[in-house]
Amino acid sequence: MIIVTGGAGFIGSNYVHYLLASTNIERIVVLDKLTYAGSLDNIRSPLTNGQIEFIQGDISVEEDVESAIRHCDAVVNFAAESHNDRALLDPSPFIETNVKGAGILAYAAAQNGVKRMVHVSTDEVYGEIREGSFHESLALRPRSTYPAAKAGGEMMILAAVESFGLEACITRGVNNIGPYQHPEKALPLFVTNALLDMPLPIYGTGQQVRDRMHVLDHCSAIQIALERGEPGGLYNVGVDNECTNEYMVDHILQRLNKPKSLKRYIEDRTGHDFRYSVDSTRMRELGWEPQYDLNAALNSSIDWYVKNEWWWREARSEEFENYYKEVYQDRLSQAGQDHTPA
Ligand code: NAD
Ligand code: DAU
Repeated sequence: MIIVTGGAGFIGSNYVHYLLASTNIERIVVLDKLTYAGSLDNIRSPLTNGQIEFIQGDISVEEDVESAIRHCDAVVNFAAESHNDRALLDPSPFIETNVKGAGILAYAAAQNGVKRMVHVSTDEVYGEIREGSFHESLALRPRSTYPAAKAGGEMMILAAVESFGLEACITRGVNNIGPYQHPEKALPLFVTNALLDMPLPIYGTGQQVRDRMHVLDHCSAIQIALERGEPGGLYNVGVDNECTNEYMVDHILQRLNKPKSLKRYIEDRTGHDFRYSVDSTRMRELGWEPQYDLNAALNSSIDWYVKNEWWWREARSEEFENYYKEVYQDRLSQAGQDHTPA
């Protein structure tokens, strides 16, 4: 039996679909708090078909974790607060879930004899890098709240490996795109705004660089790490699909046949990391091979939102609209149509 924490979120739900399609695992339990970012819509069909079991619970609450984790062989932890812009508004849930939650989950996994665990972390823990790529041996230098909390969570996992012999490893993935991504994140925000003929808010100059990985490539890496990763092992997961935010926006507008006049350059995110890049040799040495190049990852992601309007209309809820107003309204009213926000 495997427990997928955060399995109703973006990557977690894709991982559940991946497990069902590619493995023979008999019992899958999803433990998720269902914050604003989690939705049963993301796992609707396996839930309805009885292929998975769902438990609503919080990884930072011992009783929730204890009752769910009993009789479990494996744990994959996706549960986290994951959005940098929200961390700028309120750091508390980031500290609570990403640090304390990771610690409670790791302790419970060790105490309950869990045999394998993957803790899903991020390339952002290294901080930004203008040239070259980060190797796992380098020190962590997170530059803002979300990655600082993720770095804290990693330490809790490694402590349980050392203190209790927990067989856990950690993956550090780059920027994911694909189905079921909350519309607060860049690609689904840009695509759904374009479909609604609303402006696309580009932070600063739009020249920041991200390595865009299709979520299914991330899922296959996580599965390999679960099967073959070393206890205490650290595994970067990157795909060499780098592009600037502006390139992605232009690509989206072109694919959707929408005008470039929808682009708006707005005041930058505070502490915005310019570029991340990781060396994934170690992950590839475990036998992992990503399948999506940049265009394939972008196009299949864009097309999914075009085909699944029911999903994103639901996700662009009242909560989302309030958040959007808070973060974007003033900046959009001062926005420019070239690289220099007014
Ligand atoms: P997400 O925000 O879409 O989903 C997070 C899920 O965790 C949601 O279903 C939410 O309800 C649940 N959750 C939040 N707090 C919880 C708690 N206390 N207890 C139980 N469940 C809780 O995030 P995502 O983009 O799918 O990211 C998943 C994981 O992968 C995170 O740990 C993130 O740091 C990491 N990661 C994300 C990316 C990316 O590009 N999105 C890249 C690398 C790593
Ligand atoms: O690198 C891995 C990380 O990637 C994960 O750990 C995070 O959970 C995930 O959210 C993602 O972080 P980013 O901050 O890179 O993702 P986001 O989608 O928020 O932004 C991607 C880029 O687009 C970033 O440079 C900021 C920019 N952006 C984003 C938004 C939401 C804009 O220009 N405008 C926007 O409105």
